[in-house]
Amino acid sequence: MKKILITGGTGYIGSHTVVELQQKGYEVIIIDNLSNSSESVVDSIAQITGIKPTFKKIDLTDSKATAAFFEKYKQIDGVIHFAAFKAVGESVENPLKYYHNNLFSLINLLDCMKKNQINNIVFSSSCTVYGEPDSLPVTEKASIKKALSPYGNTKQICEEIITDTTKTSSLQSILLRYFNPIGAHSSALIGELPLGIPNNLIPYITQTAIGKRSILNVYGNDYPTPDGTCLRDYLHVVDLAKAHVIAIDRLLENKNKSALEVFNLGTGNGFSVLEVIKTFEKVSGVKLNYKIVERRAGDVSQIFSDCELANKELGWKAKLGLDEMLSSSWKWENYINKTTK
Ligand code: WQD
Repeated sequence: MKKILITGGTGYIGSHTVVELQQKGYEVIIIDNLSNSSESVVDSIAQITGIKPTFKKIDLTDSKATAAFFEKYKQIDGVIHFAAFKAVGESVENPLKYYHNNLFSLINLLDCMKKNQINNIVFSSSCTVYGEPDSLPVTEKASIKKALSPYGNTKQICEEIITDTTKTSSLQSILLRYFNPIGAHSSALIGELPLGIPNNLIPYITQTAIGKRSILNVYGNDYPTPDGTCLRDYLHVVDLAKAHVIAIDRLLENKNKSALEVFNLGTGNGFSVLEVIKTFEKVSGVKLNYKIVERRAGDVSQIFSDCELANKELGWKAKLGLDEMLSSSWKWENYINKTTK
């Protein structure tokens, strides 16, 4: 049975990817420092798949602990690297925290992979590397703009670190640039669990609908878009997780066409904030309390993907639509409210 290491595997996208990997017959080991997730996610994964993944609480910025982990766990066939801080706003307030964590985690990981002859990595990147795109939809050939936040900059630098390492070693890598992952597993046993006040739109919507937040602030309706609010390419986290299984399969079966491949992962559709709110009200039956306020610094007005390359090369296409994304988020919000009362 092929063994895959998932760093950040108790996090939102990581946990959904663990489920899909286990259901495809992979043995999974999770390492996570639990800075933005809880160990109970391991049990939730086991409840969904019937298989409890190995879990080790490790901080990848601790090079000794990381090396010791690889000493102990041999025969790892590939790594999917999710572990990173990802709050755009927080990264502006505390850039060093982001550079230290996101860069040293990757550097320590790559050092250990090299030492232990582990040559396959799938990296969790983001459409944030494109900044405000010159043209839409965005393809992988679009220019990488100066990052709008230290978070986005760490994603760009990590892509460069992997690119340069691939050139001078036997590392084979796939960079996956996510657009906006939302939604939750249909079991409602795993989902997005932001600690504190959510930065992202969907958890803020569901927390407002359930009464945890009093009102949703819509950051600006004076953008050059059909209804004035920002457009984003939302994709279901389960569709996204499935893409990771295809990507790691591709590397393990040596089907990749070059040592470094890059794929956009989105649906190709852009929805505005107001369209998302309207769709949420439709699928949940809840009237959402919101108000239009000032723009949020760093927001791009619109971005959505051209994921032709992933369709063609990976045979991957997002299957779940906005209704299913939002109804699964709502089901998850109701579940966590029942269990955390
Ligand atoms: C979406 C839209 C906001 C909250 C970020 C990262 C990206 C990825 C996803 C990690 C924007 C509006 C939001 C709110 C609002 N993260 N909004 N009120 O900023 O597109 O992307 O998260 O990989 O890398 O950059 O996502 O959900 O924060 O915002 O009006 O309370 O919703 O202005 O237009 P974003 P988001």
